[in-house]
Amino acid sequence: MVAVPAVARIGYLSSDVLVYSSPAFSEAYASLAGFPSQGPKLVSVPQGADVGSTIVRNASNLTSFTAIATSQLVNRLILHLADISSQSVVLHLAVENDLSDVLLLRSAVPFFILSQTSQDAHDNALLASRLARLEKKAVVHVFYASQDTTPVDPVADDKVLPFLLSKKNPHSPSPTNGQATPLGGVNGVNGHANGEATIGPIDDPTSAQLFKAYEAAALDTVALVRRPRRALASRGVAEAQTVVFLVGRSDIATAEIDGVSFVTPSLLSPLPPSKLVSLVPASAKNVIVLEQVYRWSTKWTPLYLDVVSAVQGSNVGVHDGILGENVSQPQVLQLLQKVEAGESSRFQLGVVPGTSSTTSIPVVPKHEAAYTKILQHLFPDRFEVANSPDLVATQGDIATTPEFALGRVRGQLEARQQLISSVQDLLQDPSLSVELHSLLGKWVLVKDDGSKSRQLGKEIVSQLEQDSFSDNFTVQQVLSLRDRFPAVSRWIIGSDAWSYDLGASGLHHAIASQLDVNILIIDTLPYSSRNSGDPHRRKQDVLQSLVEADRFKGPSVVLAYLPYSSEASPALEVLKETKLAVDAGYWPLYRWDPSKDAKGQEPFSLDSDAIKNDLRQFLDRQNHLSQLTRSTPALAAEVVSNLGDTIREARKKRAQASYNDLVSALDAPPLLVLYASDGGAAEKKSKRLANRAKARGLSTTIATFDAFTFEALKDEEHVVFVTSTAGQGEPPQNGRNFFKALNAAALRGETLFPNLKYSIYAMGDSHYWPRPEDAHYYNKPGKELDAKLERLGAERVADLGLGDDQDADGSETGYKIWEPKVWKALGVDSVEVTEAEPEPITNEHIKAASGYLRGTIAEGLEDTSTGALAPSDTQLTKFHGIYQQDDRDIRDERQAQGVEPAYSFMIRVRMPGGVCTPQQWLEMDQISDEHGNGTFKITTRATFQFHGIIKRHLKPAMQDINRALLDTLAACGDVNRNVITSSIPSLSTLHAQVYEFSKEVSAHLLPRTTAYHEIWLDKKLIAGDALKDFEPIYGEFYLPRKFKIAVAVPPTNDVDVFANDLGFIAIVGPNGELKGFNVSIGGGMGVTHGNKKTYPRAGSVIGFCTVEQGKYVAEKIVLVQRDHGNRVDRKNARLKYTIDRMGLDNYKAEVEKLLGYTLQPARPYTFDRNIDDFGWHTGQDGRHHFMMFVENGRIQDEPGRDFKSGLKELARVHQGTFRLTANQHLMISDVPESELQTVKDILRKYKMDNLDFSGLRLSSSACVAFPTCGLAMAESERYLPILIDKVEKVVEGAGLRHDSIVMRMTGCPNGCARPYLAEVAFVGKAPGSYAMLLGGGYYGQRLNKIYRESVTEPEILAILTPMIKRYALERKEGERFGDWTIRAGYIAPTTEGRLWYDRLGGEGEWRESA
Ligand SMILES: Cc1cc2nc3c(=O)[nH]c(=O)nc-3n(C[C@H](O)[C@H](O)[C@H](O)COP(=O)(O)O)c2cc1C
Ligand code: SF4
Repeated sequence: MVAVPAVARIGYLSSDVLVYSSPAFSEAYASLAGFPSQGPKLVSVPQGADVGSTIVRNASNLTSFTAIATSQLVNRLILHLADISSQSVVLHLAVENDLSDVLLLRSAVPFFILSQTSQDAHDNALLASRLARLEKKAVVHVFYASQDTTPVDPVADDKVLPFLLSKKNPHSPSPTNGQATPLGGVNGVNGHANGEATIGPIDDPTSAQLFKAYEAAALDTVALVRRPRRALASRGVAEAQTVVFLVGRSDIATAEIDGVSFVTPSLLSPLPPSKLVSLVPASAKNVIVLEQVYRWSTKWTPLYLDVVSAVQGSNVGVHDGILGENVSQPQVLQLLQKVEAGESSRFQLGVVPGTSSTTSIPVVPKHEAAYTKILQHLFPDRFEVANSPDLVATQGDIATTPEFALGRVRGQLEARQQLISSVQDLLQDPSLSVELHSLLGKWVLVKDDGSKSRQLGKEIVSQLEQDSFSDNFTVQQVLSLRDRFPAVSRWIIGSDAWSYDLGASGLHHAIASQLDVNILIIDTLPYSSRNSGDPHRRKQDVLQSLVEADRFKGPSVVLAYLPYSSEASPALEVLKETKLAVDAGYWPLYRWDPSKDAKGQEPFSLDSDAIKNDLRQFLDRQNHLSQLTRSTPALAAEVVSNLGDTIREARKKRAQASYNDLVSALDAPPLLVLYASDGGAAEKKSKRLANRAKARGLSTTIATFDAFTFEALKDEEHVVFVTSTAGQGEPPQNGRNFFKALNAAALRGETLFPNLKYSIYAMGDSHYWPRPEDAHYYNKPGKELDAKLERLGAERVADLGLGDDQDADGSETGYKIWEPKVWKALGVDSVEVTEAEPEPITNEHIKAASGYLRGTIAEGLEDTSTGALAPSDTQLTKFHGIYQQDDRDIRDERQAQGVEPAYSFMIRVRMPGGVCTPQQWLEMDQISDEHGNGTFKITTRATFQFHGIIKRHLKPAMQDINRALLDTLAACGDVNRNVITSSIPSLSTLHAQVYEFSKEVSAHLLPRTTAYHEIWLDKKLIAGDALKDFEPIYGEFYLPRKFKIAVAVPPTNDVDVFANDLGFIAIVGPNGELKGFNVSIGGGMGVTHGNKKTYPRAGSVIGFCTVEQGKYVAEKIVLVQRDHGNRVDRKNARLKYTIDRMGLDNYKAEVEKLLGYTLQPARPYTFDRNIDDFGWHTGQDGRHHFMMFVENGRIQDEPGRDFKSGLKELARVHQGTFRLTANQHLMISDVPESELQTVKDILRKYKMDNLDFSGLRLSSSACVAFPTCGLAMAESERYLPILIDKVEKVVEGAGLRHDSIVMRMTGCPNGCARPYLAEVAFVGKAPGSYAMLLGGGYYGQRLNKIYRESVTEPEILAILTPMIKRYALERKEGERFGDWTIRAGYIAPTTEGRLWYDRLGGEGEWRESA
């Protein structure tokens, strides 16, 4: 603030008593205290106190009061103004902008002065002080507190008092003279004396006297400060037709507008009418009084009325209005037009803070700004928005309209065309130098290239600016068009609203113009509110389209979908809305590029996999059916008839036949079992129920809810429903349509099922949503179904059964009570079941029957009628490193269309130690492009993972991977998976040793089946069937569950060794040599929400082995698990449960029995971190290593981060290796000195060397989750970076930007990104909902614990914000966040896996219920 200290100083130097109240002034006086030696009596008044009486009490030769003006203050002052106004008092009141409050004082004080600038404030403070002292009257001096920061030129200290005490200037002007004064007090229009005013009111003598006094004081002040002090400054044309009074601060007073003069009064009281009239020339038709009053409650302001009464009797129209901020000249023009047009409303010029105004500069909503960023990234030096909000300031709000923008583009294009022809003319000029000629020639050739045309343009302009060309007309013309040298990408950006509203004149106009302009329309209407829009409007894809749009020489339109309802919409909500729109087919992605047509290429390209797959499948099926009908004409009728009807008919016939059989054999009805299940539990139960029903002689049919039409239920007699609960009390996916139909029927209130007898078994988890207010979600679908069927006339024959995951035996507890009731109701309870119940098919059966992992994979690959493999084969392909997945973003949409899910496959590579060569990197990159979705991922097991590989590409992709000398065998499945190893750049020798060890262990535990080579590489066994496969370690059943091994080298625990079934912790000798390993067993992350039999466990160290013993120790540990692991329940099959069941010592004893020796005692070691060491390191062998940050391991090109391209370029020159880390980052390793600079250059070029991230981000990791992982319940990889953006602000605010906090997220409790060892973790429960865990050990040594069972983003931020702030203040030296949350009492430490559930939900005052 410049004005406040300046006024404070004058007040201090000029007053006998200084009363003040605002803190801003207290500060100013504190710095002035004791200066000069004898200052005024300072009286501080608390804010809100009655200042008026204090001022009255402290009357003196000059009492000054300084304060920031508030409504309350002004109201209190008004009460005492009658007393104050006859005292020598100056009220210096600072305002921000609005004058509404202070103007209330105007009519009650003799003098009211308004300062515009800080310098004015200083000078007027002097003037006001002198005026008050000499006239013994109160002066209100209002000035602006903060805006003007130009330094003030102060009068010297020692001149202030003499000035105040000096006698009146003898040259004081005459009070009645409205003509020019030496002060310019009323200086007429444009500085000319104006004595021609035709209107001549008579002034009130008091006010004339006061005005004279003011002028005298002003004259004296001018003599001191040498700056004019005008009571009413006027500027503009002499013969103005409009006079604009501007009361308040505005730059517009300096504008030059034809026919307009501006008056800025600095004296608002007294304001004799003659002075006002003198400012209104005879030519004037209108006077506009604009005041900076934003909160005026009466219809007219006093000043407006003064002007009206002054000009009374003339033909001048007087208008009033509000003077806002950021006023531009075009806005004034618009206002004048309105006045001309006879509009009589109260006007507004500029923006009134706190209100939305048509003249405010539009702000690009934050979500939409993402598109502008992309465009800026795509066209870095040539992106131009023709309707940019920035133009509003200079061009008025019309600047953002499409017509304006189109006109602007047209003008620019014409100007450029003009430039081109001028340049061409210039090229003909023989007087040009060779160099200039060549530059101009080159520019013509590259004029469409953004950067070259800009660069050459600059060079040309600098040459043409030489004096010698000053007479050359063509050169001058070229120079006048210099801005048009660079080729720019011209964009008009708008929301869908204008493309609809302006219809013919907006979008159509642009297209018809044929101009080379690009239009980006952002559709922001959320799909969920689509009913208010037209669902048939088609939209386009964005990214690639932006490039194509730019390239196309003509108008291009890009429609982008960005659904959000408000600026505050969380990014996750935008993501969900997008998903919804794609799911429902509302947003089909396609591009139409007419320039391709000209090149003989297909102009239409589909970007939407959903539609592409549908189309392909449709065509495949059409081909298939037409071939079928051609070969067997008799089939045609059946093929083309309604497939569903035929199946239903056939089923009914069969049911009827069975029923007839039954009636004759046993008096029991047929039974239909319908189930709805997401995770398979309800399906499993239903299948077992159906088998048991069959064993009781019931003719049983089983189907999912949605496979059976709701209508067809009318014909059923006995139906048993089994449904689980998904989401928040929602039905599972394969029952949603059924539930919709049920709800609709229940609403109609029909008696649909008079003959139906039913019973329901509902499966849920009473603790899934643990808050009391969420209790109604428990088993909601089952309960609703039960009630609604009854309402529809059906008869409940056995009470609703409730299965609860929380029961001792899980959902089996309730089932055991419910099932007998069903048999009783069906009259088969007394049937003796003699046949053994058919066993459900489990993974164990599938493995055993697979012929050493063959199954029918080879046959399945040949079947083109489906994009999937047989369900049992999908279990087997895991052993081959392949997971079948489907795009979950479009799952609902495809189901609604009745087509199978968009199946594709994920392939995971086996790469022990995470090391690969640059050549292998290049090949992986190519595989992702040719066979996958164009990206690949570094996984938490330090290997490559490809997504989106469709069945046809599966085998070629596998062959390409093997061609690169990598394989995928055992990358997933119930075997030992990829062995991971610490990345230890500096210890090159040690790394070489542990890397060799990892490869050795991996090779030792590889499955020996030849199925892999046979299926994928077409390598048949030479001896045919004579040679049988044999699995020496695994046997034909393989392991009960997956098995993971990690090798860690202290002090880094970057592999999270304790998260693995088996961990080797390197023990190094005194000379740095590898001595052997401590062995840790029983680590594992996977959990099932709500199933207390499942828990994470951190590995337990059981001893030490030598390097040579290592692989055999691993083998024996695997063997004991193979033989003792739980093969009945996969959820309880991991080694961690076997160990806890057998006891650690017993397990160890079994291992040692097989080894034939005991393990040595474990040796000491120390870990200090489990995150990666980012940046450059130099190894013992002099080679260099750079640990690069790859957010969540995704290798792709994205705006600002072309990592995929960058790493490809790097791999082409790199002579060392790449090391993938288990934290999903990448080390460019073994860089020789000679290559160092090249590598650094490439890293810099692609910003891959950027490590300027917060410690939080560098320490974070997320699993894949949506859209590919079939188990995902919530977003993870796509969401964690967004969440971190927000938490980062908190962290930075607390000064912890560089502190590492390990934060992890997974989309489900399987825990692929090892969330249970993080200091803070989020585990997906349902879209947008996560369990939040706290208290993990910083170096992966201690499990965390659930702090909140379900939180959403706002809750996460509400919890973390105070917690992090507190941590920053309270932590001890070196204390980690995870440790601190325990010490601070938020959460109890987890000492072992089995105790994971103890004390969950927070401690003490932080308990969830507290
Ligand atoms: C994402 C998700 C959400 C769930 N939401 C609920 C719920 O709102 N209410 C409930 O009672 N159970 C809920 N459950 C528990 C399941 O209904 C229960 O575990 C059931 O046994 C799963 O059966 P399924 O494998 O056939 O889908 C939920 C489970 C999951 C995985
Ligand atoms: S943690 Fe769950 S959601 Fe994430 S990748 Fe693993 S299985 Fe999928």
